[in-house]
Amino acid sequence: MSGFLTLGIETSCDDTAVAVVRNGWEVLSELLSSQARDHAPFGGVVPEFAARRHLETLLPLVDAALREAGVSGRELSLIAVTRGPGLMGSLLVGVEAALALSQAWGVPVLGVNHLEGHLFASLSESGPTPPFLSLIVSGGHTEIVQVDAFGRYILLGATRDDAAGEAYDKVAKVMGLGYPGGPEIDRLADKGNSSAFAFPVPLKNTNRVEFSFSGLKTALLQQVEKIKKETGGVLPPEALPHLCASFQRAVTEALLTKTVLAVQMTGIKTVTASGGVAANSALRRALSEVSDLRIFLPSPPRCTDNAVMIASAGYSAWTRGVRPSSRLTADPSLFQFTTTHGKLRANASK
Ligand code: KG4
Ligand code: ZN
Repeated sequence: MSGFLTLGIETSCDDTAVAVVRNGWEVLSELLSSQARDHAPFGGVVPEFAARRHLETLLPLVDAALREAGVSGRELSLIAVTRGPGLMGSLLVGVEAALALSQAWGVPVLGVNHLEGHLFASLSESGPTPPFLSLIVSGGHTEIVQVDAFGRYILLGATRDDAAGEAYDKVAKVMGLGYPGGPEIDRLADKGNSSAFAFPVPLKNTNRVEFSFSGLKTALLQQVEKIKKETGGVLPPEALPHLCASFQRAVTEALLTKTVLAVQMTGIKTVTASGGVAANSALRRALSEVSDLRIFLPSPPRCTDNAVMIASAGYSAWTRGVRPSSRLTADPSLFQFTTTHGKLRANASK
């Protein structure tokens, strides 16, 4: 098959995902095995369990993705695999499998930063091109990054404590909802009154791009306790939509306020959003309604973890000359921001 063929592999958390992508954007196959149901009884991801499931699932999924794309392993131009940040055991499965396949097929392998992957999920062949701002809102991260060029990222601000998705998951647990909490809260919020509870919008009036969700989480917890006290220890199901809608309003307003602040600070009016929370219907609506902005949002399945975004980010790194320098390793805390020339700059793909 002609063209530059990238096999993307993503195993940083609890989804095993594989994709074959031609010339950076054209998806030839895309498969994902979700472990959400396995972790649901625990209300969160159990790391050892996640790694074991990746181990069972990954290679059959690679086989199936190649078959669906009509491509053999040796025909590939590149293997792009998430090397961090994420859970060590989960990352190791992906990285070690990618190294073994690279050896077996004689195909180069590049490690991709999971967050750079999310950033690529909002992009396509038709754009946008840098400079633009990227709101990355996932279960592990909440940050706004200025993309000056692909591979040159300046961190404008991040969360001081919990990530937005983490807050969604934790408050869902408090309300007795399933894991992951975001989609269920999104669904219930649709039927609730977002002004029912006056939850605080975290850091709304500071003049910095920054987030904090742990206080909001506590406010919801206290409200739940208060309701339970009044009802003899049970949370009535009819309270759930209003709690969800009010919580979602506060999160959305915090994300929106700081995105608008970042636009004002930089003068950059093209904004992408990605990561699991970018699938949230209220956030998508709110971002799309800001006048004078060009907003790019991935489809909801491409907001959450997937391998197409890893393949696209790997392809971009390869085309700008990034090559494997030493043996690829997993790095659970990758994307440590460092200061360069007085600016905060992120490590891109390695
Ligand atoms: O990007 P992602 O799949 O994994 C990480 O890299 O963390 O994001 C998962 C997070 C979870 O916290 C999940 O609850 C949240 O994204 N999420 C949502 C929605 N769909 C997924 N949060 C709010 N609304 C949604 N519709
Ligand atoms: Zn992610």
